[in-house]
Amino acid sequence: MKNLDITTPVKVLDYDELPAADRHIVELARKATFRSYSPYSRFRVGAAIRLDNGEVIEGANQENIAYPSGTCAERSACYYAHARYPEAKFESIAIAARGTDGEFTPGPTAPCGACRQALLEYETLAGHDVKVLLAGRDNVYVLPSVKSLLPLAFTEFH
Ligand code: THU
Repeated sequence: MKNLDITTPVKVLDYDELPAADRHIVELARKATFRSYSPYSRFRVGAAIRLDNGEVIEGANQENIAYPSGTCAERSACYYAHARYPEAKFESIAIAARGTDGEFTPGPTAPCGACRQALLEYETLAGHDVKVLLAGRDNVYVLPSVKSLLPLAFTEFH
């Protein structure tokens, strides 16, 4: 038997410590929360994806009266990004959320499992790590890649 310890490296930075390019997508993710359609949960999530063609694509969660038909912010962003610019590679993604009180969450909002799997697909297509920025009100968690958020991911079948 052997043990395998899997660790996730996370840097916790103040907003001001981020490089300008990262601050920019954090701001866009925060702004995107105001375009969330979430009358059922009242939890507003925004995402912003930087592409290697210079574009930034934003998304926000979109809910539906038939609850499972809704889509998270991260998937609305990554699916639109690839539908709009299928040749572009993802470079980084920022995620932010406002809670039921309308305020930005004090801590970071991490993507759900399904969004991690969806984002991993585009990291794989990019052929390099896609930086993940999880923005809270007080600081930003920075992860080097999507795969670091989804250890032992399902990546192939035959
Ligand atoms: N949600 C996201 O948009 N992203 C996540 O990573 C987690 C959850 C949305 C789904 C739903 O509209 C609301 O937040 C409450 O779960």
